[in-house]
Amino acid sequence: MVSDETATIDASVSERDGQPFISVSSIWKVFGRNPERVLEPQYAGKDKSFFQSEFGNVVGLQDVSFTVNRGETFVIMGLSGSGKSTMVRCLIRLIEPTAGDIVIDGEHITGMSDKELMEFRREKIAMVFQHYGLQPHRNVLDNASWGLEVQGVSKPERYARTKEVLALVGLAGWEDAYPRQLSGGMQQRVGLARALAVDTDILLMDEPFSGLDPLIRRQMQDELLRLQTDLHKTIVFITHDLNEALKLGDRIAIMHDGQVAQIGSPEDIVLRPEDEYVGDFTQDVRLESVLTASKVMVTPKATVMGHQGPRAALHTIGNSDGDAAWVVDMREHYIGMLSITDAERALRAGIKRIDEAWEYVDREYQAVSPATTFDELIPMAMGSNFPIPCCDDNNVLVGEVHRSALAEAIAETSTPNTDYEANAAENAALAEE
Ligand SMILES: Nc1ncnc2c1ncn2[C@@H]1O[C@H](COP(=O)(O)OP(=O)(O)O)[C@@H](O)[C@H]1O
Ligand SMILES: [Mg+2]
Repeated sequence: MVSDETATIDASVSERDGQPFISVSSIWKVFGRNPERVLEPQYAGKDKSFFQSEFGNVVGLQDVSFTVNRGETFVIMGLSGSGKSTMVRCLIRLIEPTAGDIVIDGEHITGMSDKELMEFRREKIAMVFQHYGLQPHRNVLDNASWGLEVQGVSKPERYARTKEVLALVGLAGWEDAYPRQLSGGMQQRVGLARALAVDTDILLMDEPFSGLDPLIRRQMQDELLRLQTDLHKTIVFITHDLNEALKLGDRIAIMHDGQVAQIGSPEDIVLRPEDEYVGDFTQDVRLESVLTASKVMVTPKATVMGHQGPRAALHTIGNSDGDAAWVVDMREHYIGMLSITDAERALRAGIKRIDEAWEYVDREYQAVSPATTFDELIPMAMGSNFPIPCCDDNNVLVGEVHRSALAEAIAETSTPNTDYEANAAENAALAEE
């Protein structure tokens, strides 16, 4: 195993080369005796049922390739038996792939010795499963700090760290409780805390919320989204639930019979399915749940800075064809909204600089991220006469959304496109951008 220092260098090299953080190339997993024969050239093109009936081999994964970027939530979605668990286990060789190559953070997982592999997993990977795997005789604190205990972290340090993480997942005050005293949702929070406590780069989650009631399940999904905005972990999340996949995934791989049917953003998959299987799967999805602000936002039409006055603001608004200007600072950070009416009032009141009269600016007027779905945007747009400002993660104003654009986008996309070849070409072109 390489030292920490080398690992850091490897990571920066892989980033510089534009290499993905996780790269899975042509992975096969064949169960049963003599699995390698399935890959012999004379059987090329034969399908799963041939190998099953001829040799009794189950083909679990067939030529699966995908990449995951650092900080991304990558969802593997498919029906039961489609190979999701097999894939995530092969990823860190909890089961051995029959063929193919896996590179994580510049390191060849497929070439590691057992010892290297164990160290790699311990340093880089945390896992959360559907069955929480809590130890019944340990309390919440000891269960959640288990990973740190294995790493040899001292008791005071691991307890301190674990308490922070328990608070993060909403379990402050439950440290001394035992698993049997907790609901399923709370037990899964302990499982999540245990995975987060070790603070690895990568989180592998195999149907972690599948056993939970719908309401609790939605709460856990929201919780994960909230945590991820702070943690920026690289997450491989497995689910058989399309809605969960669309909600959580930056990108989604749809698996079908051990093969990848399509990989893309929620929007790619719902608007532009690349085969009939994916098209059938996604046809009932509500578009408002996948379309986002980024699809319809336009360049902000009127912006003013604090040191400018109401007269300049009115001039800018007049040129923009709109009824308001966004107030920003020198580095384009969004501060608030100045309506034409308030700018006129400020002018009449003799105000010289906007930053000396903040009461004229609506600083409560909320900006959204470009990833905000129409489900959230529509009520906002209905409740306001002004566009909705969009800001990036650093609160820099990057666009605005007009109510009319939301309606147009929905109308435009309401008939599913079943020209699968054209969809594939368009997805490929969009990915190039
Ligand atoms: N140890 C095994 N031996 C034989 N077949 C297996 C084994 N593990 C999984 N499979 C088969 O591989 C396929 C994929 O299984 P799995 O990865 O568990 O699916 P999923 O997680 O998507 O429900 C299934 O057909 C399953 O029966
Ligand atoms: Mg599974």
